[in-house]
Amino acid sequence: MRYSRITATGSYLPERVMTNAELEVLVDTSDEWIQARTGIRERHIVRDDESTCDMCEQAALRALEAADIDANTIELIVLATSTPDLIYPSTACLLQHRLGIDNNCAAFDVQAACSGFIYAFSIADKFIASGAVKRALVLGADSNSRILDWSDRGTCVLFGDGAGAMLLEAATEPGIYVTRLHANGAYSSLLQVPSGVSKPTGDPFIRMRGNEVFKFAVNAMGSIVNETLEECGLEKNDIDWLIPHQANQRIIKATAKKLDMTMEKVILTVAEHGNTSGGSIPLALDTGIRDGRIKRGDNLFFEAIGSGFTWGSVVAKY
Ligand code: UT7
Repeated sequence: MRYSRITATGSYLPERVMTNAELEVLVDTSDEWIQARTGIRERHIVRDDESTCDMCEQAALRALEAADIDANTIELIVLATSTPDLIYPSTACLLQHRLGIDNNCAAFDVQAACSGFIYAFSIADKFIASGAVKRALVLGADSNSRILDWSDRGTCVLFGDGAGAMLLEAATEPGIYVTRLHANGAYSSLLQVPSGVSKPTGDPFIRMRGNEVFKFAVNAMGSIVNETLEECGLEKNDIDWLIPHQANQRIIKATAKKLDMTMEKVILTVAEHGNTSGGSIPLALDTGIRDGRIKRGDNLFFEAIGSGFTWGSVVAKY
C-alpha cells in the first residue's frame, strides 16, 4: 500500500490590504455588520497587473524553499482555481513553465469553486496512492476581486485574493487517512458567476443568495464531520486541528462545535484574509505550520463547501 504525506507548504497574499472601513465608502455597510456577521476585518487585493498565476508562483516558491527541493523533481501539478489567468492553457501549465519545470510532468486545473483545494488535494493523493507519481505540487488560488460587483454589498465585503501551495509526497506510513468529495448541481443558482464562455449572459460577477448558502453550509459541514470520522475510524478527540474553508466565522464555529472543539483548535484566517475561495485552506494550513501551532504528527481535519454546490473533507496526519 502506498500513501501520501504533506511535506511542505507556502502561501502568498497580495500586498494591498482593504479594510472594512474602505468598503463603507463603496456600499451601504459597516465594519460592525461585516465583523458581526462574518468575522472579516480586512482582505488582500491583487494589483491591476497581478494574476492568479503570479500568486501561485510565489506560494510555490515558498513551498519549494521550505522543502529544499529542485522544482524539476515535481511529477504532477494540480491547481484549484475559478479565476484562471486564461481560458486555456490552464494556470497549472503556465505555473509549470514559470517554475522552470521542463520534465513534461502532468499539470492541470481543477474547478470546484471554494471546495477546489479539497478536490485538488484528493486527486493528488489518489495519483500518489496509485503509484503514478511520487511528488505532487497542489495549489489553491483565486483573484476574487476580479469577479466582484463592487456595488453589491451582499458579496463584495466577503471575498479576498490569495494563494497557497502544498507539496504532497509518497510515504510508507499513512499521511492522508481519508478524502471525501461531494457535489449537487441542483443548488447551482444559489451561488454562481452567471456569465460563462459558451453561455455569455453579460453578468460576470459573483451572485449569491447568502442566507440559503449559509444554511446549506452549516448542515453539510455538520454531516461531513461524522461521515469522515466514521470512514477513517478516528474519534473527535483524535483531531488536533480544524483547518476549514474560511467563508464565515459563524459557519466555522458551528463545524468546530460538531467536532467538540474549542476555537483554540481552529486555524482561523478569515479575519485577515476574507474568503479567498480556492486559496483559503492552503493559506490557513501554511499560516498554522509557519507560526508553529501545527506540529509533525498532528491530525488535521480539512473541510470546505462552495458553488456547485461542491463540498468535501480530508483527514491527514501532518
Ligand atoms: O465560500 C463559499 C460559500 N459561501 C458562504 O459560505 C457564504 C455563506 N453566507 C454567509 O456567510 C452569510 O449568509 C452572509 C454573511 C453572506 C450574510 O449574512 P446573513 O446573516 O445570512 O444575512 P442576510 O443575508 O440574512 O441579511 C440580513 C440583512 C439584510 O437586511 P434586511 O433584509 O434584514 O433589512 C441584508 O440586506 O443584512 C443586510 N445586508 C447587509 N447589511 C450591511 C446584507 N449584506 C450587508 C452588508 N452590510 N454588507
